[in-house]
Amino acid sequence: MKAIILSGGKGTRLRPLTYTGAKQLVPVANKPILWYGIESIVAAGITEIGIIISPETGGEVQSKTGNGDRFGAQITYIKQEQPLGLAHAVKVAQPFLGDSPFVMYLGDNLVQSELDLFLDKFKSQHLDALTLLCEVENPSAFGVAKVDSDGNVLELIEKPKNPPSNLALVGVYLFSPEIHHAIANIQPSARGELEITDAIQYLIDKQKSVASFQLSGWWLDTGKKDDLLAANQIILDTCLELTIEGAIDEPSKISGRVHIGKGSQIINSMIRGPVTIGDNCQITNCFIGPYSSIADNTTLIDIDLEHSVILQGATLEGINDRIVDSLVGERAHLKAAPQRPKALRFMVGDDSTIELT
Ligand code: G1P
Repeated sequence: MKAIILSGGKGTRLRPLTYTGAKQLVPVANKPILWYGIESIVAAGITEIGIIISPETGGEVQSKTGNGDRFGAQITYIKQEQPLGLAHAVKVAQPFLGDSPFVMYLGDNLVQSELDLFLDKFKSQHLDALTLLCEVENPSAFGVAKVDSDGNVLELIEKPKNPPSNLALVGVYLFSPEIHHAIANIQPSARGELEITDAIQYLIDKQKSVASFQLSGWWLDTGKKDDLLAANQIILDTCLELTIEGAIDEPSKISGRVHIGKGSQIINSMIRGPVTIGDNCQITNCFIGPYSSIADNTTLIDIDLEHSVILQGATLEGINDRIVDSLVGERAHLKAAPQRPKALRFMVGDDSTIELT
């Protein structure tokens, strides 16, 4: 069994962060989303992993993630020259996959359940495709499945206007090599992409063995800001342990599960977990409330913040109002005027959102 993880695409829904970086490298609880997928694949005993990358962000994915040693896996990078769809990515990966059955994992998805369960079902029932399904409130934003009472997939439709159910296709799939034949026989969709959904539908139409597994735990597609904040909250809730590696001065107070990385200094501040703070951060005169992730090399001075994600190297200074539900990009600088400003002065990148509430 091998695995491929799709880490290309343009990440349009997370702009402007994804103008400069891959959406799969955006951190959740200070760890790139992509790495959670790699870890869960390795935990299921699969160590031959192909990561599909794009020409734009592939270099960054590769240099950050490495050859797999740190995960106990061998990672092969496979370039998809153009974003022509998920099934197209499988086509590009065919030389790597050979005749092996495989897991396909979308690099911006986070799934709570362990992969073992799905692998067991896939193997014991000799399936050609196993799809994972999850109930969602907005099925039109996903691939949607129509299933019978035994969970057999009857039909799959990509982003339907009138969804036949509220069961969305999760971005984790298991396939036998039959999928390559199906992909060779489908046509690009209306959005000009070779859809994996259509390839699975082809298998269904040819009476191949396709089954589904309905997830009971959480699943997050981290493509948008609020999804990312939700993912951050869930991971901090479930995975964070109290680990203090940095320095905390006498007046500071730490409560709950908090991680403070090496070389970080907490000065006259209150941190109420779950909160993770990376390495070499400077936190002075701050309140950092629950569900916040502060990446490495960040400086926060006179800041009151909660339920937010601050990326590497950002500086936030002297903002009197509480910052909530926010996502601040790498090296961003937010600074308030010493007195109540008579004018607001901005330098704001394309696609940014600023809410003065
Ligand atoms: C893709 C699939 C869709 C699936 C979703 C899960 O959509 O085409 O069927 O439900 O991933 O994340 P995309 O993210 O390409 O819009």
